[in-house]
Amino acid sequence: MRKIIHLTDLHLCPPGGRVIGFEPESRLRACIASINSRHADADLCVVTGDLTDAGDAASYERLRGILAELRMPVRLLLGNHDRRAAFRAAFPEAECDPHGFVQSVLDLDRTRLLFLDTLDESRPGAGILCRDRLGWVADRLAESGDRSVTVFLHHPPFAIGVEYFGHMLLANGAELMELLRGAGGRVRHLAFGHCHVGLSGQRGGLSFSANRGTCHPIDVELRGLRALYVDRRPTYDVLLLEDGDVVVHSVEPGSDEDVVAEERAELDGGSGVIEMRPRRPVLAVAR
Ligand SMILES: [Fe+2]
Repeated sequence: MRKIIHLTDLHLCPPGGRVIGFEPESRLRACIASINSRHADADLCVVTGDLTDAGDAASYERLRGILAELRMPVRLLLGNHDRRAAFRAAFPEAECDPHGFVQSVLDLDRTRLLFLDTLDESRPGAGILCRDRLGWVADRLAESGDRSVTVFLHHPPFAIGVEYFGHMLLANGAELMELLRGAGGRVRHLAFGHCHVGLSGQRGGLSFSANRGTCHPIDVELRGLRALYVDRRPTYDVLLLEDGDVVVHSVEPGSDEDVVAEERAELDGGSGVIEMRPRRPVLAVAR
């Protein structure tokens, strides 16, 4: 089994900066502390874009320093808030395809991971996979053999049921989905960012997952064009991949002070003894 951490939408700023009132750096650091504490055995951490809020060199340099604290390899993807040239200048070791797009592949035994570059710098929110990028994807699928494939990208390649995001998706997502579905069933899962909400499901036989990211969460309103940014904790996902199957755990980093009781499972499946932890009273209504 392979364990992959899925971080997204960091929206990092230069030191001291805020985005819509949120502190991107402290929220990212809370996730990194949680990942290192609970999931240091992960094979990889994937960040699916919007690494920075403005695509500036100072933010990418800051990001490099912060991510160095992660105890596993990291693969970085671009989102609509990123700028490709600035990213490549700050991360010259980042793998790219022959056309200079930040696309790469990683094989972990019988699992193939594809990392796509959906950034379209001519549009504020939507993404694109041009002919060159789609061709690269097709080639990587054709050579995947009997491996199961999981695809990471920033923009959802289909509607997610939220009207606000209707014009901010992968513009030619239907083309990508046709390509993925035509790969003989080898593509099993998609993991994307961009939404700032947690969601999961299946589309055209492919399962998918997303999380609300580390910076500014959105409280979902399915209808209408407004987004409500809400004061909630950052999140990340843990993907467990094995023989083409996928289990996704959504994690909301907390602290020891959040623990109100401890129970250890009995090996016969019975309930264990619950030991209460001394602390303040449990809140009747979660914040
Ligand atoms: Fe974002």
